[in-house]
Amino acid sequence: MKLINLTDNVYWVGTVDWNVRDFHGYNTPYGTTYNAYLVSDKKTALIDTVYWKFKDVYLRRIESVTDFDKIDYVIVNHIEYDHSSSLPYLMERVDGEIFCTKRARDVIERIYSDEWSINVVKTGDELSIGNKTFKFIETPMVHWPDTMFTYLVEDEILFPNDGFGQHIASSERFADEISFVDPYDEAAKYYANIIMLYSKQVQKVLKYLKEQNISIKMIAPSHGLIWRNGVEKILDLYGKWSSGMAADKVIIVYDTMWESTEKMAWAIAKGLEEEKMDYEIYLLKHSDWSWIMKEIMLAKGILVGTPTLNRELYPSVAGFLTYMKGLKPINKIASVFGSYGWSGEGVKKAEEMLREGGIEVVDSGLIFRYTPTEDEIQQCIEFGKSFAEKVREKE
Ligand code: FEO
Repeated sequence: MKLINLTDNVYWVGTVDWNVRDFHGYNTPYGTTYNAYLVSDKKTALIDTVYWKFKDVYLRRIESVTDFDKIDYVIVNHIEYDHSSSLPYLMERVDGEIFCTKRARDVIERIYSDEWSINVVKTGDELSIGNKTFKFIETPMVHWPDTMFTYLVEDEILFPNDGFGQHIASSERFADEISFVDPYDEAAKYYANIIMLYSKQVQKVLKYLKEQNISIKMIAPSHGLIWRNGVEKILDLYGKWSSGMAADKVIIVYDTMWESTEKMAWAIAKGLEEEKMDYEIYLLKHSDWSWIMKEIMLAKGILVGTPTLNRELYPSVAGFLTYMKGLKPINKIASVFGSYGWSGEGVKKAEEMLREGGIEVVDSGLIFRYTPTEDEIQQCIEFGKSFAEKVREKE
């Protein structure tokens, strides 16, 4: 097996999942990786494991670098199954000690084994393996309560587990090597769908890294590509995404039964055009919701269109709003529109769901019975123009 080095004696020992297309509800058209790293000095440490389905490749990759009996320490940055579920197979072969947070320890003892030697670490704790030193930083909720980052002091490499990841399966290991996809775009999609809910915690971590003057030459996440040349850029983007910085732009999401809500959507888009406002428009039943969430993160305005079906929201709109409500996009304004036949509850219900997700709903929803008339189409255009103004006014 080919050895893959980050720097001297720091190796990638992860696995590539070329085929995953749904990562707990997130569409992953490019697959993903489960990255793990091996650092050797006087002692040898392994950072993270991989999803158990890939344990054989993982174990072979470790063996291509060192013997299992030479591994002294296993650092567990995060306990979610994609990173920890090969632990039992690893610990059958390794007699080393585990280092993790208290919450991770509790989960390991509950779901794997309470017979392993586990050291609980806190922010600022260090582990020396010779000339190389690890420093641990607790980062609760980036991505689970147990999560921590590990920093390799002398090599200035940050191992942030889920942080700074992207779901990309590739033969390349470094972000600057990839050509078939934009790693920053995929990092944005990943942030919007996995990390955005925890943006306050991200801000705290970024502040800590700055205050401690932690110099970072490389960021080696647990999914996707390693940031080698783009460290400043990805840190800067995390600062922007976690603070809710977004462009004057509107994302229209809608579904339609008999094309009436669709006619409204395109008339509203015409109003946005007349105000020279950028927009994107997505029919929910045909679109990648994970991609839409990324676009919503990067835009200030959201317009939601829904028919009323059986006195409820249209199912695809209800599903998307449920998904978005959980992710809580920051600093957005929204309005709702829709057509109905016999009752018209859909629009009000969509507004309620948006508010529950912390999104400011501006203007009353625009609702018309049956196919919109010419006069009503004109009202849709005006609705779009008015919303464009509000987006422009938003800080
Ligand atoms: Fe990639 Fe939260 O696990």
